[in-house]
Amino acid sequence: MIRKFTFGNPFPTEAVVVSCPAEPGELPYFSREGGSISCKMASGAPVYGLGEQVRGINKRGWTYTSNCTDEPNHLESCHSLYGAHNFLLVGGEKPFGIFIDYPGTLTFDIGYTRQDTLTITPEDWNLDLYLIEAEDGTYLSIVRQFRKIIGRSYIAPKWAFGYGQSRWGYKTQEDIRQVAEGHRKNGIPLDAIYMDIDYMERYKDFTVSKERFPDLPGLAADMKQEGIHLVPIIDAGVKVEDGYSVYEEGMEKGYFCKEADGTVFTGAVWPGKAHFPDMLNPAARRWFGMKYKVLLDMGIDGFWNDMNEPAIFYSEKRLNQVLDQAAEFKGKNLDLEKTNQLLGLFSSLANNPEDYRSFYHEPGNTGERIRHDKVHNLYGYNMTRAAGEAFEELEPDKRILMFSRSSYVGMHRYGGIWQGDNLSWWSHLLMNVKMMPSLNMCGFLYTGADLGGFGADTTEDLLLRWLQFGIFTPLMRNHSAMGTREQEAYRFSNMESLKRIIQLRYCLLPYLYSEYMKAALEDTMMFRPLSFDYQGDPEALQTEDQVLLGDGLMLAPVYQQNALGRYVYLPEDMLLITASGPDDFRFRELKAGHHYVEAAPEEVIFFLRKGHILPLAQTAENVEQLDETRLTAAAYLSEESSYLLYDDDGISKDYENPDNYETITVSPDGTVRCSGNKGRILKAKVFVPAED
Ligand code: GLC
Repeated sequence: MIRKFTFGNPFPTEAVVVSCPAEPGELPYFSREGGSISCKMASGAPVYGLGEQVRGINKRGWTYTSNCTDEPNHLESCHSLYGAHNFLLVGGEKPFGIFIDYPGTLTFDIGYTRQDTLTITPEDWNLDLYLIEAEDGTYLSIVRQFRKIIGRSYIAPKWAFGYGQSRWGYKTQEDIRQVAEGHRKNGIPLDAIYMDIDYMERYKDFTVSKERFPDLPGLAADMKQEGIHLVPIIDAGVKVEDGYSVYEEGMEKGYFCKEADGTVFTGAVWPGKAHFPDMLNPAARRWFGMKYKVLLDMGIDGFWNDMNEPAIFYSEKRLNQVLDQAAEFKGKNLDLEKTNQLLGLFSSLANNPEDYRSFYHEPGNTGERIRHDKVHNLYGYNMTRAAGEAFEELEPDKRILMFSRSSYVGMHRYGGIWQGDNLSWWSHLLMNVKMMPSLNMCGFLYTGADLGGFGADTTEDLLLRWLQFGIFTPLMRNHSAMGTREQEAYRFSNMESLKRIIQLRYCLLPYLYSEYMKAALEDTMMFRPLSFDYQGDPEALQTEDQVLLGDGLMLAPVYQQNALGRYVYLPEDMLLITASGPDDFRFRELKAGHHYVEAAPEEVIFFLRKGHILPLAQTAENVEQLDETRLTAAAYLSEESSYLLYDDDGISKDYENPDNYETITVSPDGTVRCSGNKGRILKAKVFVPAED
């Protein structure tokens, strides 16, 4: 059951797509005091949600602020990352969900000030609040109701489930060809190469450097021949430069955000001075979205949207002030306080809240304005919506890959997200694991982290262990920052192991794609905390370094350096699968309880749940080459059981076609059959649970 409460005059975020009348009356569960609402949390009950955030799956014990931020360190001490996903699931005797549809800064104090109290504080009370009660007492029913009202999650093309290689620093088309060659020569599968800001002409959106990429259409066509898609980045800020058509048109049409006095707001990003398209204004949004056509016409079919919090290195005004103030320090003897003041001046330049309060949007066609900070969290959402709406118009029958850095609930209908600028740290591998279910709750299914880590130097064992988790995430992309150690799989002495793990991804694709599509089409979660399926099991509740994946798998990634295995908690008997490559799957039954499970550096371990089936394909060089007509159904069952396989052409949008669904049925005696008429030839590998 969903109940909506409206306070003040909310900004229409369009996060929710079904109409839901607001109730008059008092808000249940919470008491309101001053600018906050609070409720008690039952002792030991979990609180889930918030999507892209730091810390655990269970969010208790910290304050989190929804304020989309370019935050490159992702430390435990952070309060905000790039997204604002204001959905919480409060566990306890009578669990409930709460979604605060509010585009400004919002703080969730989840047992930080008082261990037993949840306090939510928006900057003002113009918002819609949705309360969701469980239909059948389960956590999943709360999430599913929430997901229903926010609309179907974005569906990526199937090729985007293949392996992608990225790096900030592929400077020329020759560099891109070398990356393709490096993978091909070494037999490492590859579906995408990402193009970072280096491809543009002096960091100008929708331009391509003539010098360094003289023939992008030719390059894209050559790459496609090899089954590789090129995926360029698009940034939020538009370079200020006479003669640059995007800048000139935007100025002429008045599509950039303006300050109170009507001058266009100038902030600096990669190209230096830039203006920010008013993504909240429908005409400006359409204009910006249609610009992607220039690249679509060159044979591009995927994009990533970046710096759309929006990140601002400095505003013109603030820089001038800071430089003036800094000049006063010249020739002075700087003691501790003075030195800190001086340093503080410069560190206050980037992403300064005052700058976000200094420009405006015109969301309607009425000329009425709203100050940016009041709707800050909608910027990346609407940049991605600009692209999504344009793709609908330009390529109505084709799925285009799109993911964004910044997001708000609602953006999940137009694209996925990547998890931003992590570091090559083992703790960030674990963070990637924990973020997956939280993001799924909020509708973000197409997601993954920069595998190997973005900032700092990776190590070959970190990359290997990270890939061993990354083979399960819908977005599987190796990305790294300029100046860090080169991170392509073929650079390392353990290349063979890295390659074999990447090959495994393709074996798993029939399952992963099915689970992704079912999660999208049924508003459910591909990644779930253990407590969702084993609600009431106190150990499952405390286990946050293992996650459930789809119908029948449990993942238990190794995330510690030099570890040759790990402790795993099994809420029930499960089949341990140990694999080092596409030709090496080993199976062993493990009883419910605690186990130390060995995992040599080149081995990934995961588990198949009782009564479940895992369809496996032979590996392939890319998604296009994948032969899904020949599958092996690994099964762990004592009676006939079935698996719902979803498959389609991977590119068109005929999702509801009943032909997309087939049922694989396996019996304990090893017989296997598949409904549907796609001519699949199946083998079964059955493990019958031992009697207790
Ligand atoms: C931002 C992005 C990162 C990208 C870099 C250069 O930091 O998050 O992925 O590589 O900008 O464009």
